[in-house]
Amino acid sequence: MGDNAFLLSFLIVFALVSSFKFAKAQMVPAMFVFGDSLVDVGNNNYLPVSVAKADFPHNGIDFPTKKATGRFCNGKNAADLLAQKVGLPTSPPYLSVSQKNASSFMTGVNFASGGAGIFNGKDQSLGQSVPLTKQVGYYESVYENLVQKLGLSGTQKLLSKSLFVVVVGGNDLLDYSGSSDLQKKSTPQQYVDLMVLTLKELLKRLYTSGARKFVFSGAGPIGCIPSQRIKNQTDKESCNESTNALAVTYNEGLKSMLQELKSNLNVISYSYFDTYAMLHNIIQDPGTYGFTEVKAACCGLGKLNAKIPCLPISKYCPDRRNHVFWDLYHPTEATAGILVDSIFDGTSQYTFPMNVRQLVTV
Ligand SMILES: *[C@@H]1O[C@H](CO)[C@@H](O)[C@H](O)[C@H]1NC(C)=O
Ligand SMILES: *[C@@H]1O[C@H](CO)[C@@H](O)[C@H](O)[C@H]1NC(C)=O
Ligand SMILES: *[C@@H]1O[C@H](CO)[C@@H](O)[C@H](O)[C@H]1NC(C)=O
Repeated sequence: MGDNAFLLSFLIVFALVSSFKFAKAQMVPAMFVFGDSLVDVGNNNYLPVSVAKADFPHNGIDFPTKKATGRFCNGKNAADLLAQKVGLPTSPPYLSVSQKNASSFMTGVNFASGGAGIFNGKDQSLGQSVPLTKQVGYYESVYENLVQKLGLSGTQKLLSKSLFVVVVGGNDLLDYSGSSDLQKKSTPQQYVDLMVLTLKELLKRLYTSGARKFVFSGAGPIGCIPSQRIKNQTDKESCNESTNALAVTYNEGLKSMLQELKSNLNVISYSYFDTYAMLHNIIQDPGTYGFTEVKAACCGLGKLNAKIPCLPISKYCPDRRNHVFWDLYHPTEATAGILVDSIFDGTSQYTFPMNVRQLVTV
């Protein structure tokens, strides 16, 4: 064996040993994920008529397999990155699980679907995505499977230590912002109040089926996503501040609903993440976080690469780490990584009343 070959095998062995040594211990038994495209890991691939898909290039260009998987991202998304933090494999897309029995669900499953909202919007009635109501229904059948296999107390024990991650609301807010009909029917406050109330009823159903520890991500500054910026008639491509204000109003409602839910059902705990504040800071001060481009999408065509979504014919930027947005709606893996670091370990500036590291130990 030549010196170099020896050195190489030594390095490989060393790398393997140290990766085992540093592999994160599993902190929770399972992670169940609900919501929209920010955390969809491939459910929409299984919807026959949906156009809300990401199972084609250039999505996935930085994923470990370099292939499109249905994630609306260049690489891993927040669901993958949060699973990594707690030492679990990414929960599989529910619709990909062929044997829907308890053994398939022991470490969690992901119900999230691109395009989904709290309300069953028009898209969702046309089979474009799985709305949150239906995701919760799927979860209830998983719960039944678990009870059959583990018994009631075994199931409750498993679930009481598991994380229930909910990332939803952005699509409902964008629907309102883009629809004069919805704006005529209700004021922004009435609309977000109904979102919060509807979400509360769905959370109670999760609670009834064993959920105790919740992770919520509030709505981000969605008036600043590339698809919104290009609608501004000035040349400044500014954020739509009324859409941002709508997101803030929703987040206020969500936070007080969670506090109320916690005081009614005192056995639950939760971590709320202020996505808005974090992402707003990144957009105001990108250099601090390693970004150079906050307005344009990396992948797409036309103004800010936001006229045309990320399709195989679209262009994409050479360095995905310096763009906040991957496509006209979604953050890059780099952005998701910063958000998830803060969801997991963040200070009280961004997490309320605790971060996920603390949530797993309560
Ligand atoms: C349950 O699903 C697993 C795969 O996830 C399969 O190996 C097993 O045979 C199934 N068990 C039953 C009882 O159907
Ligand atoms: C900005 O958002 C508001 C409501 O959120 C919407 O009514 C308006 O059309 C948007 N403006 C543009 C230029 O997109
Ligand atoms: C468009 O940008 C201008 C300039 O920054 C801003 O004053 C205005 O409020 C924006 N319009 C909308 C609809 O957000």
